[in-house]
Amino acid sequence: PSVTKLHRTAYHFQPRRNWINDPNGPMYYNGVYHLFYQYNPKGAVWGNIIWGHAVSKDLINWKELEPALYPSNPFDKYGCWSGSATVLPGKGPVILYTGVIDNRSSEVQLYAVPENKSDPFLRKWVKPKTFNPIIKAEGAINASAFRDPTTAWWSRDGHWRILIGGGRKNRGMAFTYRSKDFLKWIRVKHPIHSVASTGTWECPDFYPVSLKGKNGLDLSTVGKSVKHVLKNSLDKTRYEYYTIGTYLRNCDKYIPDNTSEDGWGGLRYDYGNFYASKSFFDPSKNRRVLWAWANESDSKEDDVKKGWAGIQSIPRTVWLDSHGRQLVQWPVEELNSLREKEVKLSNRKLKKGEYVKVTGITAAQADVEITFSFSSLEKAEAFDSRWVTAENVCEEKGSRNEGGVGPFGLLTLASEKMEEFTPVFFRVFKAPKKHIILMCSDARSSSLKRELYKPSFAGFVDIDLSHNKKLSLRSLIDHSVVESFGVGGKTNILSRVYPTLAIKKKAHLFVFNNGTEHITVENMKAWSMKSARRN
Ligand code: FRU
Repeated sequence: PSVTKLHRTAYHFQPRRNWINDPNGPMYYNGVYHLFYQYNPKGAVWGNIIWGHAVSKDLINWKELEPALYPSNPFDKYGCWSGSATVLPGKGPVILYTGVIDNRSSEVQLYAVPENKSDPFLRKWVKPKTFNPIIKAEGAINASAFRDPTTAWWSRDGHWRILIGGGRKNRGMAFTYRSKDFLKWIRVKHPIHSVASTGTWECPDFYPVSLKGKNGLDLSTVGKSVKHVLKNSLDKTRYEYYTIGTYLRNCDKYIPDNTSEDGWGGLRYDYGNFYASKSFFDPSKNRRVLWAWANESDSKEDDVKKGWAGIQSIPRTVWLDSHGRQLVQWPVEELNSLREKEVKLSNRKLKKGEYVKVTGITAAQADVEITFSFSSLEKAEAFDSRWVTAENVCEEKGSRNEGGVGPFGLLTLASEKMEEFTPVFFRVFKAPKKHIILMCSDARSSSLKRELYKPSFAGFVDIDLSHNKKLSLRSLIDHSVVESFGVGGKTNILSRVYPTLAIKKKAHLFVFNNGTEHITVENMKAWSMKSARRN
């Protein structure tokens, strides 16, 4: 296969060619899902940014349309940057986005509406001359760190509100603006929240989650049975983090709970390649759906050769964990419609050093769900208190070094002689008062090619194994992406990898255990995945 095609994804969204980054303005309107995205129509590197547009009936099969927004006035001459859509009751959708007005990245906010609301695909968007730009940076606001408006929510005081990401020196912040008519917007004096030394906040997302159950909520939902989530993408570290907390409507403040760090070491939707995420409420299925951009991990030169760069994650349903300390995510159920051939394994014991090959499916394009169990935590290795981040541990311990309880998991995209493989695995440690569960997606061995970014992505899993000694894993394997969900979606990791041998039919899948404690595969189901339809 040509270099263009070799690592293209079959069911993760990407346009036919060229560069993409952030998902923009996702929404459900009149039975159709819309996904817009940051797009360079002229090449496979970032630049000339416009809004690409695709529509779908099921979030999995997409039809690519003509671009929705492109520079057409002095206020977005240098780019149509990220933004969101809001469906106004009785009036239809409105897009709010960031326009760049000069070559120093001075940013303003604009709005756009469909030219024809009865076009089922909303192909054409117009930017009314009156009131645009609706928001300019004034006062002490730094115009080059003032972007990515959120979807608007409505409050009983009769105002719509949005957040806009920004920063002052090294302090990250999100500003609130309010409006009665969606045209005249007034800034609330203080930011809704700000955190020192987090750098500029990009792509804020702010939404209510239900204290009970998995249902998503419309952005305007209020009441005692909800908490709020604030997520920011940090330009400085290229990571996102979120907190769960309380939204004080009357004073336009958000107060994070103190159950996790409110800073770049905080909770993450994904501990891998997952940035500029955005969620939307899907009223047709009462769920909140989350998207993110997964950047390439190869070089710019490779991207130019390939003619494309960037994919979107699989859309994920997101809800609050029953203990209220973190979110849980799971691929939207529609993904299962691509499952084809199924193979199973159950009650299979894995001794130390055992690798079991999963045959009968297309291992380079697959979906795997597996549950592991073990009878004791006795052999768990001691946790070294000098390990600060999960990535440190993953890097030091890896998948091949013998452990106590683990490493065990899946070996994805493995070549015939194991010259290449991307392991996704667990390793359990003993700390003074608790057990620490590491989940790792280690790209170091993913490719023989050298000039790649091959990080040992990892996160900890917040569960108590003392009563239930089971750990489950789901991995979506799609040629150059391994997107994994640990323990029902509590800890998730997306890795981009570029095998040179483990490609197409030459890619293999294994289940393995390199720990001294015997591990049982209680249950595994793996499927070949069909390619998603595009157009
Ligand atoms: C995030 C981001 C946004 C901006 C867009 C430009 O990846 O930098 O802040 O609007 O990308 O493409």
